[in-house]
Amino acid sequence: MADTISFARGAPSLDIVDVEGLKDAAVRAFERDPAGVTAYGTAVGYVPLREWIAAKHGVDVSQVLVTNGSMQADAFLFETLVQQGDPVVVEKPTYDRTLLNLRARGADVRMVSLQPDGIDVDELAGLLEDGLRPTLAHVIPNFQNPAGYTLSLEKRQRLLELARRHEFVVFEDDPYVDIRFAGETLPTMLSLDDAGTVVYASSFSKTVCPGVRVGYLVGPAERIAQITKLATNTYIAPNMLAQATVFQFCDSGALDRSVATVKEALAERVKLLTAALDRELPDAEYVAPEGGYFMWVSLPEGTDVDAVFEEAKGLGVQFVKGTDFLLEGGENTMRLAYSGVTADQIDEGVRRLAQAVEAARSRAAA
Ligand SMILES: Cc1ncc(COP(=O)(O)O)c(C=O)c1O
Repeated sequence: MADTISFARGAPSLDIVDVEGLKDAAVRAFERDPAGVTAYGTAVGYVPLREWIAAKHGVDVSQVLVTNGSMQADAFLFETLVQQGDPVVVEKPTYDRTLLNLRARGADVRMVSLQPDGIDVDELAGLLEDGLRPTLAHVIPNFQNPAGYTLSLEKRQRLLELARRHEFVVFEDDPYVDIRFAGETLPTMLSLDDAGTVVYASSFSKTVCPGVRVGYLVGPAERIAQITKLATNTYIAPNMLAQATVFQFCDSGALDRSVATVKEALAERVKLLTAALDRELPDAEYVAPEGGYFMWVSLPEGTDVDAVFEEAKGLGVQFVKGTDFLLEGGENTMRLAYSGVTADQIDEGVRRLAQAVEAARSRAAA
């Protein structure tokens, strides 16, 4: 069988990773700061990178903690804030790892519908009026994983109002913010917040590469100090070599070039993917994303995504079932990632997907 084409991987294909730039950045890190690169350092992260992040977000350095990927930042925040049985609001659908992490902590996970302009704030307001008292609401505002949708400015403001009134933390999980290839950039909720309700996480996984495992948290200084203690007790300090390399990469301007490369490639892939879907699977529904890695595709009601998934395996094409991002429902949905496929694989990949859908339908009808 021909090589498998993966619309499953939420990671960049190698052709859009600046390997040479990273090698140069690592060499510069060793040459310019051998002591900083080779020492333990402290739990707050590599100091020059921490300062760079604080400047990017216009906050004090005491509000920043640099971690081993933003997953680590998420885990620290959940460990600090979420106890067994605590209600936590997430989007429906949401990132599968967040769902797993919260469920493993015994949180009472409440999913609130996601619309093409973000979480349904009216539905959330209704739940709050009915007495729901969440510890936090986890929201992926830009090019959401898995749906690719973006939270509108109005809803960002409304969410902050609700959080202030009902005293819950808004966890703004924003690894895709810089990968916008269409439309207008919106302000982060972190920048709109004047009441200390937002804890913000982002990452260099999507702009540099995931292998560096560098992400970060920004939030109220006291909360960051509390999480820093947890970080110290967990690992003394995060990976200084990786963080120093990322700092050199950012500081030299390589980051801006890398982001431009990624955006250009992903914009082209979305164009190819939507054209191929319109041609091969005309009854599939989707909203074309303005950035990020993912697109959510709904097949007609009654299509069994489990069966499509099994057929797809045999045909050499992969995707993630929509059901993985939900507690229930979504049996006719899937997440297509266009980050890990190269442009020349997309037409063939969608042709195989359409064959898989057709085969699953024929089997069901037989
Ligand atoms: C919404 C969201 N949060 C967090 C992460 C994890 O990012 P990192 O590689 O920085 O741990 C991802 C990665 O796919 C993601 O989609």
